[in-house]
Amino acid sequence: MSVGIDQVHVYAPQLALPLPALAAARGVAPEKLTLGLGVQAMAVTPACEDVVTLAATAAARCLRAAGVDPRTIGLLVVATETGVDHAKPVGIFVHELVGVGPHCRVYEVKHACYGGTAALMLAADWVRAHRTQARRALVIASDVARYAIGSPGEPTQGAGAVAMLVGPTPRALFLAEESGVHAANVYDFWRPLDRREALVDGKYSIDCYLDALASAFRSCRRLERPALEDGEGLLDRLARILYHTPFPKMAAKAHRRLLELERGSVTDADYEASYHALVAPGLTGVAQIGNTYTASLYVCLATLLEDEARVLAGRRIGLFSYGSGCCAEFFTGTVPTGAVAIGPTGVRETLARRTLVDVPAYEELLRHGERGGEPPADFAGDFVFRGIRNDRRMYAPTREVLAA
Ligand code: HMG
Repeated sequence: MSVGIDQVHVYAPQLALPLPALAAARGVAPEKLTLGLGVQAMAVTPACEDVVTLAATAAARCLRAAGVDPRTIGLLVVATETGVDHAKPVGIFVHELVGVGPHCRVYEVKHACYGGTAALMLAADWVRAHRTQARRALVIASDVARYAIGSPGEPTQGAGAVAMLVGPTPRALFLAEESGVHAANVYDFWRPLDRREALVDGKYSIDCYLDALASAFRSCRRLERPALEDGEGLLDRLARILYHTPFPKMAAKAHRRLLELERGSVTDADYEASYHALVAPGLTGVAQIGNTYTASLYVCLATLLEDEARVLAGRRIGLFSYGSGCCAEFFTGTVPTGAVAIGPTGVRETLARRTLVDVPAYEELLRHGERGGEPPADFAGDFVFRGIRNDRRMYAPTREVLAA
């Protein structure tokens, strides 16, 4: 039975901070951020937006684009590492806001940025297990990436959500059943219970990511069927490769590591050609949105499908997911011949509706967090976080959604 992603949709807050402005405020050369890290801008959440509204907006638009009745969803999993409660899952708010029916399993999963992939794999297995009933799952990855103001991680923040409808005979990506995984207990990035901002050992986290990539990729290569011929690399069978992208330069470092692993050594010219053909096309969205933790890899997938579904029809792509702590997975998927029919995936729309903010406005929003309240006049989301009353979080659809 072929199982995979039937529809994918991205939503990110419409406020964005251009990285050259942050560089000027922190007294560093703008090229350090725009070239050294490869980030051009990062999404900033307005007070009325949080992981729930991000997730619900992405989910509602995903279901509308697929023409699927929310009441037919049998499994709803939200992956996040910036959830809003220690017990109540983000998914149950989404369940109500998008109108999923009562006969549905709803829960949250966590393993840093790997959580989105954990949820996707689990949903795919669930669909395979119900093969006679052709059931569909809704998987959402939603996060607000926060580091302390002035810390090295500050330019690698961002926010956004990706919703994916998972089912049989998918229109966006067939998922291969075999993949390579790697797990190890490392302290590269973490967020103790009492903190809003993540703690990170930045340089060490890059080493952990690259070690996990090599291990997961080797494992995937061993399981490849039909087996690789002498001298043939797994990369030779892939038309594009998407990496978890906390900042685009990380994907570039990852790709160099994989080429070295497959070919022993690579010239700069070979590396550049391979990077521009296989990796760069998936990075245009994340370069403007920033790190979205669990959603990052799937923002890259949505970007690729929005821009290249026709070119990639019938071709196989590689995906690498990394979550600090750590767990990682290298897996592959094939773009169905009719993938172009899934239409826009929300990336271009998100970028087209953006309002740029300056550093004082960004700092004000970061210091006070997502407090809830009235949406700004040009608010682009479908749902609003109204605030907390009696220790309860209050959400509502926007007037535009109610009127539609
Ligand atoms: P840093 O120490 O400020 O930066 O922090 P740097 O000094 O390493 O410079 C960055 C790059 O800019 C370097 O490039 C410099 O050479 C270059 P590289 O040598 O690495 O190729 N550079 C310049 N380029 C052009 N013109 C200039 C210039 N100056 C310098 N003038 C760091 C960087 C990434 C460590 C920091 O931002 C950080 O801690 N970020 C957060 C951690 C992170 O994203 N880690 C990635 C791997 S772990 C992961 O992906 C998981 C994660 O998403 C969380 C999860 O799983 O939940 C984070």
